[in-house]
Parts: sequence; C-alpha cells; structure tokens
Amino acid sequence: MKKGKIQNIVWFALLSLTTIFFPFCESFNYGKALSQSLLYFESQRSGRLPHNQRVTWRHHSALTDGLQQGVDLVGGYYDAGDNVKFGLPMAFTITLLSWGAIEYGDQMISAGEYAHALQAIKWGTDYFIKAHTQPNVLWVQVGDGYTDHYCWQRPEDMTTSRRAYKVDADNPGSDVAGETAAALAAASIVFRRTNPHYSQLLLHHAEQLFEFGDKYRGKYDESVGVAKGYYGSVSGYMDELLWAAIWIYKATEKEEYLKYFLDNARDFGGTTWAITEFSWDVKYAGLQTIASMLLAQEKHTKHETILKQYRSKAEHYLCACLNLNNNSMSNVQRTPGGLLYVREWNNMQYVATASFLLTVYSDHLLPTNQKLHCQKRDMGPSEILAFAKSQVDYILGSNPMAMSYLVGYGPSFPQRVHHRGASTESYKGNRGFIGCTQGYDNWYGRAEPNPNVLTGALVGGPDMKDQFKDDRRNYVQTEACTYNTAPLVGVFARFNVFHNETPLIASS
Ligand SMILES: *[C@@H]1O[C@H](CO)[C@@H](O)[C@H](O)[C@H]1NC(C)=O
Repeated sequence: MKKGKIQNIVWFALLSLTTIFFPFCESFNYGKALSQSLLYFESQRSGRLPHNQRVTWRHHSALTDGLQQGVDLVGGYYDAGDNVKFGLPMAFTITLLSWGAIEYGDQMISAGEYAHALQAIKWGTDYFIKAHTQPNVLWVQVGDGYTDHYCWQRPEDMTTSRRAYKVDADNPGSDVAGETAAALAAASIVFRRTNPHYSQLLLHHAEQLFEFGDKYRGKYDESVGVAKGYYGSVSGYMDELLWAAIWIYKATEKEEYLKYFLDNARDFGGTTWAITEFSWDVKYAGLQTIASMLLAQEKHTKHETILKQYRSKAEHYLCACLNLNNNSMSNVQRTPGGLLYVREWNNMQYVATASFLLTVYSDHLLPTNQKLHCQKRDMGPSEILAFAKSQVDYILGSNPMAMSYLVGYGPSFPQRVHHRGASTESYKGNRGFIGCTQGYDNWYGRAEPNPNVLTGALVGGPDMKDQFKDDRRNYVQTEACTYNTAPLVGVFARFNVFHNETPLIASS
C-alpha cells in the first residue's frame, strides 16, 4: 500500500474515530485467548507431569518435595517466574479459576475448553488435599524466595532448598487456611456434576480447614516467616475467613456458614471496608460482590439489611473501577490508554480481577435489567460489560504499545518474560544439568527472546503511561503469575460467546 503523509493523517483520524465511537469493531479471538490461558497452567505445573501434558518444554520436577518432613507434597503450581510453591496465592488462583468455571462453564464447554479448565483446577486441589495432612495441619509453602532467587534454574534442575513449611494449632494461619478452604469449596461446586465423590472430598477438607482457621486465629506470615517478604498477608485474615464462609455456604447451603458471614460482617470489615483492589491478599471486593448477588434469591430477603451493607461496599469497588464515585481519590486511576492502574508492580493482576468482577456483576444485573448504582450516575449491565471488554481488549493488544500482554497471543507480545523455565533452553532439548548461577551467566541476561514461549501468561504489564520494557530483568513488568491469568479464564470464555452470538447494545 502506498502511504502518503495526508493519507496517514486521514487514516489515523479514521482509526481514532473508530476507537472512540465504535470500540467494538476491533475484533479479538477470545476463544484462542481462552485456550492459551489454560495452557499456561501446564507450564506452571510442579511434580510428575502426565502423559497428556501439552506444554512439552516442561518435564517432571520437584519429585521429593516434602520428603525431608515426611509428607508427600509433590505437585501443585510454581507461583510465577520462580520455583517456589506459595500456598496463599496458589489457593487464590484456584478459587478464581473455579469461580470462572462456575459462572462460565457452559461457555467453556462450547469453546471445547471445559476439560482443560477442570484439569487446571484439579492440579491445584489434588495438591491441597495432600497438603492438608491432619484436620489442624496445612503445609503452605515449599521452597523459599530467598534461596530460590539466588539461582536462575529450570525447575527440572533445582538444587535450591525445598524445605516445606506448615501452619498448625500452635503456629496458626487463618488467612491461608481460609483461602484454601474457599478454593476447595468453590472447586467442589465445579466438580459436583462430573465427579461427585471428589466434590464431597473437597468439601470435607474445606469445612475442616475453615474450622481450623477460625479456631486458631493468626496471620500465616507470623508462623511461616519466609513467606513474609513475598506473600505477607497485609490485609490480615478476616477477609479470608468471610470469604471461606461464603464459599462454603454456596457449596453446602448450610445456614451456619451464612450466619457466620452475617454475624461477623461488621467486626471482620466485610461491611465497613471499602477497598479498590481485589487480589491474592485482599478479598473484600470479591466477598462483597457475592453477598450482593445473594440478594436476588428470595430466601435471603430476611437478611437484606446486612446484605445491602455488603452491597454498598461492592458498589463502591465496582463504581471505583468505572470512575463513577464522586471523589476522584476513591476511583481507580487509569493510564492515558485507558487501563485501570492500581500500582506499578504487576498492575495487570488488578486489571484481571476487576475485569472478572465487573463481568460477573454485569451478568448478574442483566436478566432483570437492573442498574449498578454509583454516586455520579447509574450504569446498566451492557455498559459495565463494555468497560470490562475494554480492559480485556487492552490486554490483547488494543493499547498504545500495540502489544498483547497475554504471552503468545497476536503478532506482538513480550519475548523476555521473567521466568526461569521459559528463559532457559528446554529440558527436552538439553537434559544436561544447568547449575544455580550458570543460569544467570548463560540465560538470564541474554538480549535474545526466551527460547520457550510461556503461552497464556499475563505479564505484569505497562507502567502508568502505558509504557512497557520487554526486558527479563524488568520483573516488575515482565513477570507473570498464576493469579494474573486465573480470573481471565472465565472472562475470555464469556467474551467468546459475546463475540460469537450476542450483538452489543451500545449503552443502556
Ligand atoms: C455526587 O455528585 C452528584 C453531582 O454533583 C450529586 O448530585 C450527588 O448528590 C453526589 N453524591 C454523593 C453521595 O456525594
């Protein structure tokens, strides 16, 4: 195509008009993104890999985890670009994957991805069952960030400490016990139809873990000091206890769990905290959103006073994401390109969780065409969904860098993801041992792209000015975590159907 300056200007003007007035013309393949996002969880697998493992640059690893302590802790997920198994974010990952499968399981079935979603969840829940060795004992970490980060090694070669850490009655961890209980309860709902026996088993562990977390109160990072510098529980454990209670209530419909959730609403911050982040640490927005949705069922009308208090905090979160709270300080900032911006390090995790909650809540409002009530104005479900879609589309390439932050998607994506396995020659290609610092010497600092593509990983993403530096040492932007991708799985499934079937009504 011949390009003149004027043509360029006209073209640019047309493009701008298109993005301003027709933001839905740009079309992304959400089905492909869904498939890729589920593949990512196979890259993060620890333990003995099954025959149907699709990510072939990975191999068995960490086959003696727990051995020193006399417990079988083989399996589970590596957290991010390192090889530590951190229980708290791993459990949050499984809770969000399960929640996505509960809301959008049918859409995953139509995309042919449901079996992969179940596998991704079960890889986590199988591990949690192993890690929950006694009613009041939960193993919550294998390896530690300090020794792990000293080396740059493929998981298949690891020579770093694989010491395992637990919480128990004397060394409590209500947050990690609560989150693990939530994950198991949510997963039990997912498996109810396809694997009822397994579903019951998950629920049994969930109820025991909740009881343990509630009875022996404490922050896990006080009991497991090595977690502190990496996944310290800043928000404490009260959000996780409410979160666990409401998930077990959803799974069992036992009144005692709803009662706990209502009775502790105030003291545990559920109806008092208005927070604009939803993350592996802070679950208030998630549990407040679930509470809001309970109001739709007639049997909950008798609890409407407290549930409405929960809802007003959920609305604060959702309105903050939509820039509809009156006080700009209580709205979530945005980059010039329109991306929600919470903080510099791994900002995309907050974008992913916000997109998920907005999508779920919009689908909750849709059947009765209710509106979300915000201070500036009300907003209807299709407009909320359109905003969630704008965030997802930004992730997939509709952004100033024209880059997909979902690795492997589209023509341009990060090539130097901060990830030990992906940045080093694959075990399949070279079974020779690559030592602790040898990885730093030979692979970490290389300017070349990673030899293995970490398909489906959502990296930390751009800065507050939409700028992104594709450099392995820039871990603030180029590292991916399991809990970044987890909320997106359900969202991709939702938009895949949206894209194929539902015409969008531009506003409400
Ligand atoms: C928010 O601002 C609007 C418009 O200025 C005003 O009508 C409304 O009362 C305000 N709401 C609150 C809760 O401050």
